[in-house]
Amino acid sequence: MEDLVVTRAEGSLIFDANGRRYINFTAGWCVGNLGWRRKDIIAAIRDFDGPTYVHPYYRYQPWAELVDRLTQLAGGRLTQCFRAAGGSEAVDIALQAAILHTGRSKFVAIEGSYHGNAIANRGVGDSHLRGRIPGLRPSSAKIKPPLDATRLERVEALLSREDVAGFIMEPIICNLGVLIPDRTFMRGVQRLCRRYGTLLIIDEVATGFGRTGRMFGFELFGLKPDIVCLAKAVTAGYAPMGATLTIRAVAAAMQELGVYSTYGWHPLSVAAALANLQIWAEQGDEILVDVATIGAFMRERLLQMPFGPQTEVRVQGLAVGVDIGDAEYAERIQTRCRENGLLITTEDTTLTLFPALTIDDVTAVEGLRILAQCLQPTVRVNPVRCDGGRMPVGAAVPLICP
Ligand SMILES: Cc1ncc(COP(=O)(O)O)c(C=O)c1O
Repeated sequence: MEDLVVTRAEGSLIFDANGRRYINFTAGWCVGNLGWRRKDIIAAIRDFDGPTYVHPYYRYQPWAELVDRLTQLAGGRLTQCFRAAGGSEAVDIALQAAILHTGRSKFVAIEGSYHGNAIANRGVGDSHLRGRIPGLRPSSAKIKPPLDATRLERVEALLSREDVAGFIMEPIICNLGVLIPDRTFMRGVQRLCRRYGTLLIIDEVATGFGRTGRMFGFELFGLKPDIVCLAKAVTAGYAPMGATLTIRAVAAAMQELGVYSTYGWHPLSVAAALANLQIWAEQGDEILVDVATIGAFMRERLLQMPFGPQTEVRVQGLAVGVDIGDAEYAERIQTRCRENGLLITTEDTTLTLFPALTIDDVTAVEGLRILAQCLQPTVRVNPVRCDGGRMPVGAAVPLICP
């Protein structure tokens, strides 16, 4: 992947240094949910005439405005917000807040999960890293998938010791190839967290802002988390930002520590986030209807593709995972797709597709056609020229755009 030199991005397309056009089924991995190069968000950044920078100890009215908007979007309960520069920082703040609020130091997470690459985040993530990073936070226990009612016994055994500060997970686990937990599991985890005084931390860094067909993934299960971590699509990819939303009592426990982030919520990032949320306020319902429609269409098409007998297609909104049960084959498909003008990602044995939520039908169909044809190793896909014209079938002509 490293040799792909990106020079331009537009809607659901990106272009490399040779002018080659790629259909982008990754959206920067759940970042560019509204597509690239949107005039409305770019204008908000370009026309910004506020302060160059605001020190975290001062006040800045757009910070308050953005907190209000995020609080409302998240259901109104999580009224407090810590400003962060990205997802890892947002999760790290959540972990600290849970420790300080509960006076406990342990965490429970999903085995194999990813919550960012700072050292504390690694500690609650994938256990395989333990051998690679000596001294990694030892006090985190893991729940292994499948995430269904049968796992609640183990969750209870862990939480009932009343020494667990937080239970952290993604509501739809994008980092495990779009793993979709059972509703009974999610509701049970929340119930057990409440019973044993553990905070429920929902990491919406990847799932937030419409990816799962809801504004936030926790809505799918009717959850009321104590802490929600946001980043990636909060600015739709136009500037860096992270945020940790929580309830008043949890935020109060953090006050003594005085957490701040120098570049957390830079004025330009705030302008981008507010422009993004304005689009959601005006067009959010329509966007979510489109997500459901295109997601259902993709599921249907993927189910028809000859991936092999062990395949599981998992679709929630436009978080799409196709587990083909073979990591090497998944890599090969990814490479072939790229050679033929389609960008997808893989998680172990699963192909993951995270297109922009605003992808148009024609581009979605074209991307799926490339994917289908890349399942057969010898077939050369019929490439699309920049003018939308078709090359003869089987023509191995490089795709050069002006
Ligand atoms: C679920 C989840 N949490 C946290 C992070 C870390 O976010 P960032 O890369 O902005 O630090 C990621 C990044 O992929 C993520 O997917």
